Amino acid sequence: MSKSVEEVRAEIPFLRTGIIYLDNAATTPTPEPVIETMLAYYREFSANVGRGLHRAARRATEEFEAAREKIARVIGAKPNEIIFTKNTTEAINIVARGLNLESGDKVVTSVFEHHSNLLPWQRLEKERGIRLEVVGSSKECLLDPAEFEAVLDQKTRLITTHQVSNAIGSIQPVEEIGKLARDHGVLFLVDAAQSVGHMPVDVRRIGCDFLAAPGHKGLLGPQGTGFLYVREDRIAELEPLLTGGGIVENVELHSAKLVEPPQRFDAGTPNIPGIIGLGRACEYVLDIGIERIAERERKLTELMLEIGKNSQVEVYGPRDLERRGGVVSFNISGLSSHEVASMLDELAKIAVRSGHHCAQPALRHLRVNGTARASVHYFNLESEIEKFVEVVVQIARELGAS
Ligand SMILES: Cc1ncc(COP(=O)(O)O)c(C=O)c1O
Repeated sequence: MSKSVEEVRAEIPFLRTGIIYLDNAATTPTPEPVIETMLAYYREFSANVGRGLHRAARRATEEFEAAREKIARVIGAKPNEIIFTKNTTEAINIVARGLNLESGDKVVTSVFEHHSNLLPWQRLEKERGIRLEVVGSSKECLLDPAEFEAVLDQKTRLITTHQVSNAIGSIQPVEEIGKLARDHGVLFLVDAAQSVGHMPVDVRRIGCDFLAAPGHKGLLGPQGTGFLYVREDRIAELEPLLTGGGIVENVELHSAKLVEPPQRFDAGTPNIPGIIGLGRACEYVLDIGIERIAERERKLTELMLEIGKNSQVEVYGPRDLERRGGVVSFNISGLSSHEVASMLDELAKIAVRSGHHCAQPALRHLRVNGTARASVHYFNLESEIEKFVEVVVQIARELGAS
């Protein structure tokens, strides 16, 4: 049986503080069953993984490995295609550092990326002499596959882009871009930070080689967790970011034979309770039903967009609800985004983010320094969104420039 909104809310202790939490694009609150799973690790089998033979070590290893299968289920992958990371950023860096990109190779990305999908490629531009091509021109930050196609050449190795914009919520045509990449023999990395857990994501349908995602956003998992999906036939060619203990079969003084992937990517003691908690969180969102989450977020987003009816409020991003996720970015004329966010907090305990959202080139493209950004998840109430709309309109009327 799917979980109702009331059941989910009752299981998220943070919401009992009375906050109206509309900052889900940054990170999400943790449900009790996920907290309990992590506490059970600390209380009952707090051992290291992949090393010991005693019963606590065996249980920790089993539960840790089981998380790969649970994550895989969410995105239609196989467990041996899942690498654990501490966040999306680490997952993208594994691809950037691990692919053996060389001088003259081209990587294509977009103007609308989060900095985490731009800086790793900028570093390769400086350190290895790769060519970074950046596309994107639409006012709504929507990507057109033809823009990618126009810049592909013989030495293009990778296309990388996001599925949903964290800055203004646009949903990108990743399946079409994936097909384009396949047709041209180019690798494709998807930054799924704002999509996994919020909407159905299927790596086979997208046809991507890599998909980077957080545990701590749409999946309602703990902070400090994320993962990288790598298509089975690509994983052996990817170099781990870290090397060291826990990933070897045999070590000589000047050489080492590593274990097979994905465990090859687990050097050092990982975030064991976090990853086990993430596995539980995947079950939790699957129990709610990801289609159901997407449908609810669409309704809540439609309600949030009511703020745009006030002439002092400018809302960014696509009007078409099919092309936007549960993120609404806006400004009130005469006020900075930080002033708006502080007032929402002071007047009604409403939490939104403000500023550039780690997407400065995207905001520059929109010709703004910052926006206030409200972002929802399944557990948000219609009454919370109504309050949000009421207070935004009140601020615009009383303090916005006319
Ligand atoms: C689109 C996008 N990519 C990457 C990231 C970075 O995610 P993380 O904080 O998990 O590294 C974020 C975070 O907000 C994001 O929204």
